Amino acid sequence: MTGDAIECPVYGDFDPLSASFLTDPFAVLASLSPEMPVFYAPSIDYYVVTRYADIEAIFLDAETYSAAPAQLPLVPLAPEAAQVLLAGGHKPQPSMVSLDPPAHARLRSPTARVFTPRRVADMEPQIRATVSNLLKGVDASAPFDLVSSLAFPLPATIIFSFVGIPENDWPQLKDWCGHRATLAWGRPTSAEQMHHAQNMAAYRRYLRDFVATKATARDDALASALLAIHDEDPEALTHEEVASILYSLTFAGHETTNYLIGHVLRRLFQDPNRWDEVVANPQLIAGAVDETLRYDPSVPAWRRVTKRAVTIGGVQIPEGAKLFLWLAASGRDDAVFAEPDTFDMRRPNATKTLAFGRGIHYCLGATLGRLEARIAVEGLTHSFPRLRLVEGQSLSFHPNISFRGPEELWVQST
Ligand code: HEM
Repeated sequence: MTGDAIECPVYGDFDPLSASFLTDPFAVLASLSPEMPVFYAPSIDYYVVTRYADIEAIFLDAETYSAAPAQLPLVPLAPEAAQVLLAGGHKPQPSMVSLDPPAHARLRSPTARVFTPRRVADMEPQIRATVSNLLKGVDASAPFDLVSSLAFPLPATIIFSFVGIPENDWPQLKDWCGHRATLAWGRPTSAEQMHHAQNMAAYRRYLRDFVATKATARDDALASALLAIHDEDPEALTHEEVASILYSLTFAGHETTNYLIGHVLRRLFQDPNRWDEVVANPQLIAGAVDETLRYDPSVPAWRRVTKRAVTIGGVQIPEGAKLFLWLAASGRDDAVFAEPDTFDMRRPNATKTLAFGRGIHYCLGATLGRLEARIAVEGLTHSFPRLRLVEGQSLSFHPNISFRGPEELWVQST
């Protein structure tokens, strides 16, 4: 720790689950003093880190910063709910994203072996077909919601078929994913925790049974590819670990991308000229997706805990401090992005965004998520080039700290 580091300021008003924050987190960011790049937020008992350079350094230093809290319930669990999770086998097998080396590599390496760029590229025709089918189902003679008609169903369909989950089970899995998001990243009451915990235990059980079934009925989907790695050396990747990887992928491939698509569309329609521009020039769509990840990321915050006392941004932080890495704030850091509050589809360095993390946990689905978003927007520009936002709607957001996107986005043809 350097001698001139200051004590950490406390910001009592900061609450990422408050109604005003959920409506407009960037207004809260703008109200912060530039002198306060790191502060303690008693509402969540986390140290909030806002600057790009500080967050990047934390992501890159797995020795000092543990990923353990990445998926921990934000509010301490009621003992009964914790017991339900334990009994359901939740605790003994933490997911990849919350494991530190060397345990992390046991799950990451086999996943990276099967989740190849080739396998993602092979998904492209299916993504196009899914977008096209979804849009065929839209009745554009009346206003319609882009979230329920496109953004929500697309990523679930893609990730579940990618993994090899039978189609009949998709609605159930979607439902379980919702429980998981609220339990780990929201502020449920004790009674609600019990309900979510029971659902998560059922989700775990389902995946274990699924792996056992797939073990004797292989196909060419991702679960079977993981089981083929298990066959090479059953000790190096157990069935339980395969189920854990599927637990990561079925969730991570879902709300992240649903909300990314929602955000891209929101930002394009917000200024009708932007929408008309991408309709006229679809080459701009990839840039619009990257710029959205910088400007309004669908995973706006991620978590770490300090393994020793450190100085972050000139501020003293104790050992064991839980860190709220405000990725959305890092995208608005003018030390990295010129005029950061301007949405610019042609921004040359938008891909520097920290929206997918950095370092050993860097998002394994970044290419897939971007591809889905690009194809979704392309499909919409083809099918409905003359769309506009329905005026006067106020957007709502699910109350959790790490997955953000509009719950509905109504548009109409002109
Ligand atoms: C498109 C929007 C997405 C965003 C914004 C996003 C964001 C993130 C972030 C912030 C992390 C944590 C990085 C860290 O701790 O350093 C992460 C990790 C991860 N993501 Fe994504 N993600 C997205 C899509 C996906 C998709 C589509 C998949 C898979 C199908 C996926 C799978 C994963 C996995 C497996 C990890 C854990 C990697 C590890 O711990 O080594 N993500 N993602």
